[in-house]
Amino acid sequence: MVGVLSSIVGAIAAWLAVGLSNRAMIARTLGPELTWVMRDRGELARCEAAPAAWSLEIPGHGKVWAFAAATLRSENPAAPPLDAAITRELERDGVAVRFLPGAGGMIAIRVAPGGPCGVVASHWGPRISAVRLAALVGLPGLLAGLASAAISVLAGVRPLVRRIATARRAAARVGEREGYEPAPHDVDDDLGALARELDRAHARIRADTEEIHRRSTALSQHVADIAHDLRTPIASLQLALEQALLTEGDAAATRELLVRAAEDVVYLGGLTANLRMATELDDGWSHALGATVELGETVDRAAARLRFLAREKGVALDVAVPDEPVRVAADPIAAEQVVANVLENAVIHGKPRGHVAVMLERAGHGGFRVTVLDDGPGVVEEDLPRLGERSFRSDAARRRDGRGRGLGLAISREVAARAGWKLTFAREEPTGLRVTIEGSVLSS
Ligand SMILES: Nc1ncnc2c1ncn2[C@@H]1O[C@H](COP(=O)(O)OP(=O)(O)OP(=O)(O)O)[C@@H](O)[C@H]1O
Ligand SMILES: [Mg+2]
Repeated sequence: MVGVLSSIVGAIAAWLAVGLSNRAMIARTLGPELTWVMRDRGELARCEAAPAAWSLEIPGHGKVWAFAAATLRSENPAAPPLDAAITRELERDGVAVRFLPGAGGMIAIRVAPGGPCGVVASHWGPRISAVRLAALVGLPGLLAGLASAAISVLAGVRPLVRRIATARRAAARVGEREGYEPAPHDVDDDLGALARELDRAHARIRADTEEIHRRSTALSQHVADIAHDLRTPIASLQLALEQALLTEGDAAATRELLVRAAEDVVYLGGLTANLRMATELDDGWSHALGATVELGETVDRAAARLRFLAREKGVALDVAVPDEPVRVAADPIAAEQVVANVLENAVIHGKPRGHVAVMLERAGHGGFRVTVLDDGPGVVEEDLPRLGERSFRSDAARRRDGRGRGLGLAISREVAARAGWKLTFAREEPTGLRVTIEGSVLSS
């Protein structure tokens, strides 16, 4: 706005400046011409000889009239009078120029110090049109004014246009991985604020996109892992069942194959339960608020799940729970998974035809303890701290059984931690592993 106003003022000033300079220019060109015509061409003498009848037509300039040097009045009655402004300027400068808007103009000049023709005036009116006058006086001013206005408008607007174009380019590539160029936002105006908003939107979209990409990659990896984990036991189950069909008639062989198939099914059941729990834990699962469980029943149910496997391995599975209920704050399914995973390990990784015991008892003031014992090989001392790490399997376990993912204890440890329980491992002398789960009992 300020730029536009200053342009208009500039244009007017230029108009006036050029107009005034043309005024002087007319005086400088027409003045000497009139002087020359009067003095050197003998018109002064002719006028002085008959002042009442003298006038002169100069082609291209109009008519010239003569006036007495002293009175500034013409003796020729047809001559137009000199108005006050002209006479004032004439007396001051010896020459006067006056524009009559739309009606031409007049120049008056002293050509002799005295006499009836000492001053001549040429009045151009109909001969020089308003358009010509405008062209002569105003047009250069107008053009200069317009040019100045255009320059100052361009000087003010161009940086603005450039900034808008930069912001538009930035907006077009907001959120793209490459190619986003932030618009400059060092100026504290609306465009600067817009540039800052674009930067924020770009950063937010990039962060969200990266997060979605990370999650999608993790999900794909997770699905691939699950497919991989399930493939082996399913293939083993399929093989056992196919072979069982082929050994029809050999009851002992068929039974052995069916037992293997059943073990695969038990393993698949435990694995899918742990995989589901792992996914839920990764999504922030926690024990349902207000959920409670009776641990005696939990231990019984977990042992029941393992009875078949224990029997087939010839493992004696002893269960001991108190007569009174031991009620704790926990999710029932998750609590059962904690105990079942530990118990399954004792049966699977313990000694074939060995012993496994699971005991629930009250401990300390208002606490409980679940102990799972086996008489198998246990784990070497340095592996004890690693029990419960996801994917950890001892070398001995890998050699013993190709199945297993190192997931069971990690799930037990994470679920127990979220219930506020403590899970500890100790070597049992002379052999075996002792696992304890401790926590608080709900006051009845
Ligand atoms: N009672 C145990 N006796 C000997 N080693 C054990 C016992 N319990 C756990 N381990 C060791 O701890 C490792 C991790 O146990 P974890 O239950 O997490 O995995 P896993 O049993 O190998 O596989 P899965 O994911 O099917 O449970 C086992 O591979 C084994 O090496
Ligand atoms: Mg296990």
